[in-house]
Order: sequence, then C-alpha cells, then structure tokens
Amino acid sequence: MIRNPAKMDEITTIGVVGAGQMGAGIAQLAAVNGLNVWLLDSDPNSLTRATKTIANSLQRLASKGQLSQAVISDALKRLHCTTSLKDFHSADIVIEAIAESEVAKKNLFVELDKTTKSSAILASNTSSISITRLASVTSRPSQKHLQVIGMHFMNPPPIMKLVEIIRGADTSDETFSATKTLAERFGKTVVCSKDYSGFIVNRILMPMINEAFFTLYTGVATKEDIDAGMKLGTNQPMGPLELADFIGLDVCLSILKVLHGGLGDVKYAPCPLLAQYVDAGRLGRKSGVGVYDYR
Ligand code: CAA
Repeated sequence: MIRNPAKMDEITTIGVVGAGQMGAGIAQLAAVNGLNVWLLDSDPNSLTRATKTIANSLQRLASKGQLSQAVISDALKRLHCTTSLKDFHSADIVIEAIAESEVAKKNLFVELDKTTKSSAILASNTSSISITRLASVTSRPSQKHLQVIGMHFMNPPPIMKLVEIIRGADTSDETFSATKTLAERFGKTVVCSKDYSGFIVNRILMPMINEAFFTLYTGVATKEDIDAGMKLGTNQPMGPLELADFIGLDVCLSILKVLHGGLGDVKYAPCPLLAQYVDAGRLGRKSGVGVYDYR
C-alpha cells in the first residue's frame, strides 16, 4: 500500500494522541483554526482535565480580545475526546504527544500505521527522539512518499510562536510542505531541522538548563540568583531553573540523556542534582515541587 500524503488543502481532520499539556494545547490550536479534532488518551481523567485546560485557555485568550465567543463555541464543537484509535479513521494527520519514551512512541506508530488511512501524515511532537527511528517501524513501501515527520511545538502551544519541523532521513517533500502549511495555519513560524538528537531548540536550550543545575549543584549561587541573573541579565521570560520546572524535570533529564547518547559528547551528561530531583519525584510544577516549591 503506497501512502500518498494528504495535501494541506485536504487536511480537515486531525488526531492528537496524549491529552497532557502539549496534546491539549495542540488540540486547542487545531480546533480554533477550523479542524475537526479527535483528542485521544487511554486515561479518561486526562481527557477531562485537558478539556478544562482548553476551555480555560480559550477564555484567557477571549478576555484579551484575541478570540470571540463564537469562535470558541465553534472550536469546542469541533473538539472530540476518545479513548479509541478507531476514531482516527478519518484523520488526515495525527500528531502524537505522549511521554518522551522511544519504546512507547514506536509502539504507538506501529498502531497508527495500521489504523489510519493510507494518506494520513503521522507526526511526532517529540522533543528529541529520532524521527528516522520512529518512521522505521511503519510500513514504507515507497521511501519517496514517507509520511512520518517531527512537528515539535513549544510549551505552552497556544502562546509560543514556534514550531520546529524535523524531516526524517526519508520524509517526503509533500509531507514536509503539508506539515509546514498546517503549522502556519496555526499562526506559527516554522524552523526546519535535520534529524539529529535534540534538533535545534533543545540542543541549545537543554545545555543551558543543565549548566544552571551545575551552577546550583556546585554552590556557585542560589536558585533565585541563578534565575534572576539569566532572566534580567539576558532578557528571558523565565530563569533556566524556573523554566526547567515548567517543562518538567523528568522531561529535561530524558532529553539530556538522548542528547548525551545520540551526540556522544560528555558536555550533555545530565547534572547529578537534576537526576536526584527526578529520583525523588520532584518533577517541577506538575508534581507541586521541583527546584521550587509550588504547594
Ligand atoms: N493559554 C492562553 N493564554 C496563556 C496561556 C495558555 N496556556 N499561558 C499563558 N497565557 C497568556 C496569559 O494570559 C498572559 O497574557 P497577557 O500577557 O496578554 O496578559 C501571558 O500568556 C503571560 O502569562 P502569565 O501572566 O500567566 O505568565 P507569564 O507572564 O509568566 O507568561 C509564559 C507565561 C508565556 C509561559 C512565559 O513565562 C514564557 O514565555 N515562558 C517561557 C516559555 C518557554 O520558553 N517555553 C518553551 C519551553 S521549551 C519547549 O517547550 C521545548 C521542549 O521540548 C521542552
């Protein structure tokens, strides 16, 4: 079965896998921009939480005059939650935003390859894992038409202006072009990366966050001073430790491990303090405590 990729003007329905922060944000963007959305999670409670997060986010945007109540009401009508992959039968593109685990993502891609229609684009919101390796578990009778691609949104997706697109070794031009056009329809600016660990953003961001942990670990400065130094000294919206808590310390650790393993340079080795926080369940804002205490 040759998979001829959906063209942008044919993309009307999207499947999003994973109803965490990223999946919910991507589903919101798609619904607001006129797509029919199926948001899938195996946990119904995550879907309930995601629906609330989306409704809150839409109201925040409405309160600033960026969205009308009519647009919000239409968007919410287009948003469907499901626990079954069968509901992706009409999806023109699927974006997965599940946990940052290569094994879990590969298992999902095997299933998506079987259950989606042959023209569907299969995209991953992975922050660092190889698109080429994810694509390798799908059927690809014609490398020319390979429809697997990285579509990496930044957190929070409704606010951040960037989408990083990653072409696997064999991703087709048609797939790239349709994915880029979709990101632009969402109002995002696109940058394109080759498929090497961490791509552009995390390859540069994570060493900074890791260095902030080493700065704390070796007692150079307090967490507050490290963050204030970088926030005020380099005009960033959040200091690196605060940002790590926002992203999730477990996510930062896993990205650093991918960078370290994939690029083979000791400069990416995760700081022991970061690893210890994760071992202790201090995962950042989502667990109530990370570098800072949010309880
Ligand atoms: N939905 C709608 N609006 C939202 C929102 C959401 N989910 N989150 C924030 N906002 C809006 C707020 O309404 C507010 O709008 P106004 O300024 O117009 O009033 C604005 O965004 C700022 O929000 P807050 O006042 O609540 O908080 P803030 O000023 O601290 O901003 C932030 C929050 C936008 C997250 C900002 O701190 C920021 O940009 N931080 C850096 C985020 C960043 O770097 N993200 C990328 C991380 S790397 C990544 O994602 C890649 C990876 O793979 C790990």
